[in-house]
Amino acid sequence: MEVALRRMRSEDISQVIEIEHEAFSPGWVGTQFRRELNSRHCRFLVAYLTNVEQIETEAELTAPGDQADSSMWARMVRGVRSVFGSAGDGGGDPIAGYVGIWFQGDQAHITEIAVRESLRGQGIGELLLIGTVRAAYQQGLEEVTLEARVSNFIAQRLYDKYGFNEVGIRKNYYADNREDAVIMTTDRIHTNAYREKFTGLQDRFFERYGDVEMEI
Ligand SMILES: CC(C)(COP(=O)(O)OP(=O)(O)OC[C@H]1O[C@@H](n2cnc3c(N)ncnc32)[C@H](O)[C@@H]1OP(=O)(O)O)[C@@H](O)C(=O)NCCC(=O)NCCS
Repeated sequence: MEVALRRMRSEDISQVIEIEHEAFSPGWVGTQFRRELNSRHCRFLVAYLTNVEQIETEAELTAPGDQADSSMWARMVRGVRSVFGSAGDGGGDPIAGYVGIWFQGDQAHITEIAVRESLRGQGIGELLLIGTVRAAYQQGLEEVTLEARVSNFIAQRLYDKYGFNEVGIRKNYYADNREDAVIMTTDRIHTNAYREKFTGLQDRFFERYGDVEMEI
């Protein structure tokens, strides 16, 4: 699957809201994307699919008949079709995932990161995180930080991979079930150790998934 990364535009908002609703609990206070899109205190990035038609054609040709429902291809086609549907309404790029980043003091704070459910597990979340760390470098910030539900093992694994450490707990942080949040923060990103780690991770990402166009 070919994916690219760029800043969010107003025409992406309806798809991003769909992804937000799918990813977060009904009690989640959603972002006011339209209001915040042009703020210099934050940045929103989207990962979008660049070869939807090719995937659909290949998938139709490859999906093995009755077993199609369980095949990876079938999952991908369903994902792509769901993206296609809403992209068609707004006429924009098919959005696969997004990240919201607030610039606060010397920190880049990830407020939301989510990938369309049917497209998870294919490197898109990692790409969004790479974009976030790059944005932090671009802004001359020192650290990247976020809160995650203590139960959100998948997200924590992703952050751990990128050198986020657990630095604290916010008790009863989530309004829906009063779950605690774990605060995870990178080491200072301008240290040689972090730069080397990040460069190595990016290199491995591109080896695994191919080159990706990024407009941060
Ligand atoms: C968290 C989320 C953004 C990850 O996106 P994704 O595109 O599925 O993740 P990727 O395919 O890029 O995986 C990157 C890393 O995440 C971790 N990860 C992803 N899926 C995983 C799984 N099913 N089990 C364990 N770890 C997993 C791994 O560390 C993986 O690296 P690896 O491939 O080298 O093992 C996605 O699961 C999501 O949208 N979740 C719902 C919203 C959410 O919880 N957001 C986080 C709020 S704090």
